[in-house]
Amino acid sequence: MLNFSFQNPTKIHFGEGQIAKITKEIPADAKVLLVYGGGSIKSNGVYDQVVTALANHTWFEFSGIEPNPSYDTLMKAQNIIKQESIDYLLAVGGGSVVDGAKFISAAALFEGDDPWDILVKQSPVNNVLPIGAVLTLPATGSESNGNSVVTRDGNKIPFSSPLLRPQFAVLDPTVTLSLSDRQISNGVVDAFVHVMEQYLTYSVNGKVQDRFAEGLLLTLIEEGPKALQADTKEDLEIRANIMWSATMALNGLIAAGVPQDWSTHMIGHELTGGFGIDHARTLSIILPAVMKVKRNEKREKLIQYAERVWSLSGNDDAAKIDKAIELTEDFFKRMGVPTRLSDVDINETHVDGIIDKLKQHGMVQLGEHGDITLDVSREIVELAL
Ligand code: NZQ
Ligand code: ZN
Repeated sequence: MLNFSFQNPTKIHFGEGQIAKITKEIPADAKVLLVYGGGSIKSNGVYDQVVTALANHTWFEFSGIEPNPSYDTLMKAQNIIKQESIDYLLAVGGGSVVDGAKFISAAALFEGDDPWDILVKQSPVNNVLPIGAVLTLPATGSESNGNSVVTRDGNKIPFSSPLLRPQFAVLDPTVTLSLSDRQISNGVVDAFVHVMEQYLTYSVNGKVQDRFAEGLLLTLIEEGPKALQADTKEDLEIRANIMWSATMALNGLIAAGVPQDWSTHMIGHELTGGFGIDHARTLSIILPAVMKVKRNEKREKLIQYAERVWSLSGNDDAAKIDKAIELTEDFFKRMGVPTRLSDVDINETHVDGIIDKLKQHGMVQLGEHGDITLDVSREIVELAL
């Protein structure tokens, strides 16, 4: 196992009715900015619950944070923060809203000249406004990690700071009942790939991390399709298991002490930035190709994955790896997400552009060994066509 330091200070309030807890979590004298997206929270009752919980607080609101939040939208929040001396952000929404709140927070107290530097120069984030989150879409883990991804002019740029982990997060599975099938699928697949990118590398004998990861993968494979089936889709226990899996998938726990990959995510960001493909759908397209191209380097873990997650047995390791990749693709198909670039109208004429963007963003040494050069990324993208 590798050395690690691990601290996750986000307090989780999980379960039905827990939105009321925000009353006590946000200091009574705080000036709160409620930030949200395109309005789903107004039609599913979440906004009303939040307003009730904030009845005795001074609060303002900023809405319109779009999926894959844009720099320009997020910068617009700076006016109200200055005008009203906001000192607490409450993000109510999916990963885009929580990520957006993180950038708003970092930009509000940025010491440099231009908050764009937080992204493009990865300038250090030293001061932040505290954030609380009410999560409405289980997927990203943003509600209890320090990561954020912001888009400007077709460039999707991640940044991260431990200071930006929300102080608390409310996870009420009932609020996920209003999600479309597309967003349920996206969430399950995003969480699944988060686990894979921290698991499918090389063994450092991290038995606890491996078995936590396998437990999360098994849960998502078991519960994900049920959240799409007519007779089980309203089942709150299924929603609860998916929601907790997604948080645990990217809250730092399974990452501690193990190598990590993230090549699927970085290549995927170029597909969202350049072609507007939903985040999770870029991952279901790229991950199988990464598994195939890196099957030798990932051999030991692929066999472990085949045996423990897909219960494959026998002495033919190559056959087990093939079958495990095939079953992974089958799972994605059952979740209704694409597994090839041709499914989303991307063809060989687009490959050069994708590779150019990776180069422009410095994504030239990806993977757990840093050996996914631009040539290897090209091989991955071409295999995914
Ligand atoms: O904007 P509203 O009206 O709220 O609608 C949203 C949005 O249209 C809707 N939605 C959310 N909760 C709902 C709901 N609709 C009905 N009922 C509900 N309960 O769903 C749509 C998509 O929301 P979004 O927040 O964009 O989805 P997601 O949570 O998948 O977040 C994706 C973003 O997170 C980033 C992605 O790159 C992308 O920008 N990621 C963030 C990560 C992190 N912070 O650690 C890691 C991930 O790998 C990912 O990169
Ligand atoms: Zn993701």
